[in-house]
Amino acid sequence: MQITLVTQPFAALETDALVSYVFEETDPVQGRVAEIDKSAAGLLRKLTKSGELTGKMLEFTLIHAPVGLQAARLLLVGAGKREQWNSAALRKVTGAALRYLKSRSVKNFALLVREGHATEEIAQSIAEGALTADFETDKYKTDKKNEKIIEAVMIAGFSEAERAAGDKGLSKGRIIAEAQNFARDLVNEPSNKLTPRILAEKAEAMAKEAGLAVEILDEKKIADLKMGALLSVAQGGPEPPRVMVVTYTPANWKPGAPVIGLVGKAVTFDTGGISIKPSDGMEKMKYDMAGGATMLGVMRALAALKPRVKVICVVPSTENMPGGTAQKPGDIQTAMSGKTIEVLNTDAEGRLILADGVHYAKQLGATHLIDAATLTGAIVVALANVNVGVFGSDQAFTDKLLASAKAAGEKMWQMPIDDEYRDFIKGSFADIQNISSGKGGGAITGAMFIKEFTSDTPWIHLDIAGTAWNDDAKPWLAKGPTGVALRTLVHLVLSY
Ligand code: BES
Ligand code: ZN
Ligand code: ZN
Repeated sequence: MQITLVTQPFAALETDALVSYVFEETDPVQGRVAEIDKSAAGLLRKLTKSGELTGKMLEFTLIHAPVGLQAARLLLVGAGKREQWNSAALRKVTGAALRYLKSRSVKNFALLVREGHATEEIAQSIAEGALTADFETDKYKTDKKNEKIIEAVMIAGFSEAERAAGDKGLSKGRIIAEAQNFARDLVNEPSNKLTPRILAEKAEAMAKEAGLAVEILDEKKIADLKMGALLSVAQGGPEPPRVMVVTYTPANWKPGAPVIGLVGKAVTFDTGGISIKPSDGMEKMKYDMAGGATMLGVMRALAALKPRVKVICVVPSTENMPGGTAQKPGDIQTAMSGKTIEVLNTDAEGRLILADGVHYAKQLGATHLIDAATLTGAIVVALANVNVGVFGSDQAFTDKLLASAKAAGEKMWQMPIDDEYRDFIKGSFADIQNISSGKGGGAITGAMFIKEFTSDTPWIHLDIAGTAWNDDAKPWLAKGPTGVALRTLVHLVLSY
């Protein structure tokens, strides 16, 4: 999909649809919308009077052959209250407009920004909104006869003087959205098409293409490094595990400067192992590698955006299978750090592979750690599919991440991680056990387990179990993988 910024007056734009957005206020026909109304001989004011055009969030008003415009259609999208409006709302408005027009076989449209909105940030949000909305999960459908395609989007409403800022935002938005779609594409793959080995091949190809350093650890190297927690999960099936290490080093990097370690859970299928999951809904466990996919997508974006800080990405990957060689409840494993773990539930496998993942990232030099994982069903109970659960050992670092989440328009909510929860995972027969012996707080005790392997390194854990997958399509996003947390993490790294 082509996206370009144009500076012609909106009335002269030859396009399948001119799209703008309307605020819910006493008089929704203001500013640039009043200019459209003037071109269209007062049609919009008539529609507000009749109550058809109110500006309510995602209200669609489609007008064919509008008077005074070269465009074949005029689409007005409700943007909600002006006071509550931000770039996140614009991302949704743009995405919803794209999917609305696409479903009606429209091939191209121009999005006209409102008065005062011709900025870099706005252009970035439009590019992100359009490209993420355009992503479909129909890769394995063979009948594409009726496939609908948006070929081109124009961003309008910028002057020549505002073009440089707009173009900058547009190219940044494209890089980030394409990285997000890269991650979503990986998550969309079923487990028979995406084993740990295939994921590693794809990670390696991405890194080489992007110009990033990459090392793939195979089962032998993983054993040499004594990653006993990861190996214990992998022993349940025939597919060997992999650990992907992708590194971005800025041009002027000197030892002693901070190094961000990004660690992502990539369980390509989670059956639960011997503590097997119920069959109902088990097919969704192909998305148990979303944390790893997000981190790989972040690296892909960083390679192009060139932040000033070094970033090391570690993605441990395995299946969690209940084969005859699988680990069993009560088994005691030794993690790479040397800590012993009593595996009381083989379905709490994400924390096991992350234990070795964060330890290894630290050993490679990470001074700040962030992990992302579809870790617990408990976070879905706590925050549903609305907020990412955020856990942090260092409040200043966590605050930085929460500020980035706000700027990137991703909802995240900080959860507690008090020392009291440590008692819940104290081992009876080993140093630590992989599930809580107490009641409740499942997402917290999961986080607490990972924390045990970070020593004193500032660390953030993102539990994305509830937010990495949309069970239903949203007006601005297809059903399925969301690529959540990628934009926040890119923003955070760029802020260093
Ligand atoms: N992959 C699951 C968590 C999950 C649940 C992801 C729902 C996405 C949607 C994880 O490995 C798991 O099974 N966790 C267990 C932990 C429990 C055994 C302590 C859970 O949440 O039930
Ligand atoms: Zn599990
Ligand atoms: Zn899992």
